[in-house]
Amino acid sequence: MKKIAIFASGGGSNAESIINYFKGHSSIDVSLIVSNKEKAFVLKRAKKHNIPSVYISNKDFKSGELVLEKLIEHDIEYIILAGFLLLIPRTLTQKFPNRILNIHPALLPNYGGKGMYGQHVHQAVFNNFEKESGMTIHLVNEKYDEGKILFQVKVDLKVTDTPDVIAAKVLKLEHKHYPEVINDYLKSQS
Ligand code: GRF
Repeated sequence: MKKIAIFASGGGSNAESIINYFKGHSSIDVSLIVSNKEKAFVLKRAKKHNIPSVYISNKDFKSGELVLEKLIEHDIEYIILAGFLLLIPRTLTQKFPNRILNIHPALLPNYGGKGMYGQHVHQAVFNNFEKESGMTIHLVNEKYDEGKILFQVKVDLKVTDTPDVIAAKVLKLEHKHYPEVINDYLKSQS
């Protein structure tokens, strides 16, 4: 059984779609949820699904030692970032080479990098009158949004689409594709 941990800082709707997708899966198990926000709704979702979860403060997360301890304790092989807003410390990128995945709500390399997260991304896409947006799933290295792209999908935008409408269109794609891409990628690594 390949055990995965999901890191999330917020609501965790992607985390929940991944949890639901892998329920009863023959070879992949969501074994741990990690958040850097004590009140993050994702931790409530973990409880609802009886999945072990841990809150690690931003300060403790920085060195990577404490989170690494937890990952080892739960025999984690892959880390899935789903709305996680901290840079991944070198300790983890070195211990989990090509085994950390992230989802970004835009078509990287556009609209990526520092400060480009959540609503900021969709506001920037809106401000630039883009005719399309989409989402990107990539491997994570020290440079964060610059890891190898595993999957991208586009969505057409209407001139009347507000940042919220753009966000909703992109999130729908994330929920649909992230679990499938995780499944395919882990299968390709066996
Ligand atoms: C998603 O838009 C994802 O692309 C970005 O953060 C958001 C997470 O949303 N990384 P949720 O917490 O999964 O609902």
